[in-house]
Amino acid sequence: MPDRVLCQSQDLAERGLALRFTLLWGGRERNAFVLRYDGQVYAYINECAHIPIELDFNPGDFFDYSRSWLVCSTHGAYYAPDTGLCLGGPCPGRKLVSLPVREYAGQVCLIEEKTQHE
Ligand code: FES
Repeated sequence: MPDRVLCQSQDLAERGLALRFTLLWGGRERNAFVLRYDGQVYAYINECAHIPIELDFNPGDFFDYSRSWLVCSTHGAYYAPDTGLCLGGPCPGRKLVSLPVREYAGQVCLIEEKTQHE
């Protein structure tokens, strides 16, 4: 199965707004997002590890004011952008569910073959 193109590389600014998308995961449609941090692209299911609700109040706006952490808009859990590990707030030590993405030829792609067995 070919990779799924999510966006063009230039669509993801460093520590800027994320692109939201949906995918089938765990047998149901889930909301997810992809963003750029320290030059790399990362994608996660858009669901807080504290309570399973979306993190972003303003769609696509996941970074905190310092642009260093992904923050949940409900109770303020903050996550490392490169690992999804919660480092503070109500659920430290838990993680966002990461998704396999890669970037090549100017495109950001979801690696579909790795999402089919989840
Ligand atoms: S729902 Fe995200 S910190 Fe509580």
